[in-house]
Amino acid sequence: MHFLNTLNGKITSQPPIWIMRQAGRYLPEYRVIRNTELNFIDFCLNAEKASEVTCQPINKFNLDAAIIFSDILLIPHMLGHTVTFIKDEGPRLKKLHFGEKLAFDDWKKFKSNLAPVGKAINLSRTKLNKNINNKNTPIIGFSGSPWTLFTYLTEGQPSKDFSNARKFLWSNPRDSEEVFEILIQAIICFLEIQLKAGVDAVMLFDSWAGSIPARFRNKFIYEPTRKIVQYIRAKKASIPIICFPKSMGEGIAEFADIINPNCIAVDHLTDIEFVHRSISKTIAIQGNIDPLCLVKGGDTLKKEVDYLRKLISDRPYIFNLGHGILPETPQQNLTDIISYIRE
Ligand code: CP3
Repeated sequence: MHFLNTLNGKITSQPPIWIMRQAGRYLPEYRVIRNTELNFIDFCLNAEKASEVTCQPINKFNLDAAIIFSDILLIPHMLGHTVTFIKDEGPRLKKLHFGEKLAFDDWKKFKSNLAPVGKAINLSRTKLNKNINNKNTPIIGFSGSPWTLFTYLTEGQPSKDFSNARKFLWSNPRDSEEVFEILIQAIICFLEIQLKAGVDAVMLFDSWAGSIPARFRNKFIYEPTRKIVQYIRAKKASIPIICFPKSMGEGIAEFADIINPNCIAVDHLTDIEFVHRSISKTIAIQGNIDPLCLVKGGDTLKKEVDYLRKLISDRPYIFNLGHGILPETPQQNLTDIISYIRE
């Protein structure tokens, strides 16, 4: 409840703790289950396995929140832009080429294809509640934000400069808008499944928000995000929303002002002092620890934690990283920092 109270504006002496990508490759027990499925998308859609790995980090570290094991790329996959993962390289998608339209209208099929995600949430709830220590641990549902999904669609793979996506926006503004409308609808359907299954909070990942030309922020970041947040709040007013507009620099202040989420997740490249003084004190702050600082661990990490806790003492704060935990992270570093924070 600690976690939900913080999202609802309570300042607590000990911050709640969870970690982006907490179910992942740094855990040997994750790798065991992961290795039973060749295809990553099939793994995400296997409700039994997805719920099992969702619970692993909670059982091990007694974290304050679970995040449903799934992926933002299920959306383009179910829109017909097949996703495959190449080992050590990352995702490959059937690319949306320049001048092409995203033709999709079978929302019934889209929802039934994603039904296993709802089932995985139900199973996770049951499994968490079976363990007395994890009873009622909140489950976070999530989606990618439209711009980040648009970059994967138009690049077809991870990108350094997002030149295809940017070229699309500048040269095909009308087509881009149409693609965004479909993505917004898809995100809403994906979240509807998760809300129905009973997630306790929602996080919107805009991992590449820092790569859109600033002139487009209003049209392709703020407006679409506002629509999605409006939908969630209309559907279930009590659901807290975390937004992660990664690496937007000074844009994060305007983002927070326009969107007014319950919480802003801050990456490790953004100046936390700027964020703290620029955004409303009613919005919680989450994250900002460099994932490589957790890899280092020890006193170096403790010093960073002390700095953040001292700085963010007059607003709700959630301990987390600035991006996903790295596969090379020693588990002991996580165990140690959790007991340090909870001491
Ligand atoms: O524990 C959790 O955080 C929940 C599960 C989760 C995954 N992906 C599982 C996953 C969540 C919330 C995501 C979100 C996600 N997926 C984002 C947004 C957050 C971010 O990291 O910026 C993005 C951009 C993706 C797309 C994606 N999925 C990429 C680029 C990759 C490959 C590169 C990588 O980081 O490994 C994935 C694969 C993926 N998604 C893995 C996991 C645990 C690793 C793959 C594996 O286990 O084989």
